[in-house]
Amino acid sequence: MKIAEITAAKLNTKEFIQTQMKEIAEAVGDRSAITALSGGVDSSVVTVLGHKALGKKLRTYFIDNGLMRQGEPASIARVFRKLGIRVEVVDAKDMFLDALNGLRDPEEKREAITQTFYKGIFGQLVRQSGARFLLQGTILTDIEETVAGVKRQHNVLEHLGIDPQEAFGYEVIEPLVQLRKDGVRKLGKALGLPAEMYQRMPFPGPALAARVVGEATPEKLELVRKATAIVEGELKDVKKFQCMAILHEDMFPGMKAGKREYGMQIEIRCWTSVDARAASPVWLPSKVLERMAARITKGIPGVVSVTYNIAPKPPSTMEAV
Ligand code: XMP
Repeated sequence: MKIAEITAAKLNTKEFIQTQMKEIAEAVGDRSAITALSGGVDSSVVTVLGHKALGKKLRTYFIDNGLMRQGEPASIARVFRKLGIRVEVVDAKDMFLDALNGLRDPEEKREAITQTFYKGIFGQLVRQSGARFLLQGTILTDIEETVAGVKRQHNVLEHLGIDPQEAFGYEVIEPLVQLRKDGVRKLGKALGLPAEMYQRMPFPGPALAARVVGEATPEKLELVRKATAIVEGELKDVKKFQCMAILHEDMFPGMKAGKREYGMQIEIRCWTSVDARAASPVWLPSKVLERMAARITKGIPGVVSVTYNIAPKPPSTMEAV
């Protein structure tokens, strides 16, 4: 099924919000729905839209999957509390880490995360809450890249021939599928979200597991979490679409006290992009690069190499996995 794209320029936010609120409310009727925040912009926007449409019939969760950034569950809950939306944090760390155990292949990791979200976590939440629907922020680029075989985006189901009702026991509502990231931001602003939310960097559903090359072990996730905090902190005021730290799998010769010592490599990426279909690296000042390298090698024991990606998308993709 071809989806009719609404470009950011053509998006009439008032009309779109009214239409979607009506459609969501009609689909759910007197039943109820759940939604899950990931810390990115799409799930934040769909949650606010869903609350406008459904009020108390929508329950919002933050799935703490052990793959999130430092302090993320608390900071998300705080931002939404200010908007009058209660966020329930679900501790699902062990489930996700078990599912990822031993997996190295990027697509196998993505599939394990998808299954854990939809079958494991959402299946359980739907049963517990009595909800019949999952409201989620899938956008057009997610579907296109998955269908084209670039990457299995964690939230694409029906366009891969998966019937969520049959496979997982609930229906999925996706009000943002006609939009791309720039349209979602415009919508977020029109919905009255604070700029810190609609301008938030995208953050993928597979979270930090998309930034560990090879097996995403708890130790490696902790390491990339620390590097992410340094990179995001240093690039806070840089104009960009998204930035990230990636942990590589190979060990590199380094030196300690004049002797060879093998260590790990962190790659930094900082992208400029409109809608994530294509992207270019931001030409960061050398001082900033130097500072990030120093903070990462000094602050994260075992890292001996820090690189900066200079290849655009395509042929690269934005996330490493
Ligand atoms: P790629 O790596 O495909 O990323 O060039 C393009 C944009 O999509 C985000 N991304 C995802 N978002 N689920 C998501 O919700 C996913 O599985 C996923 N994979 C990538 C990525 O962060 C970038 O903004």
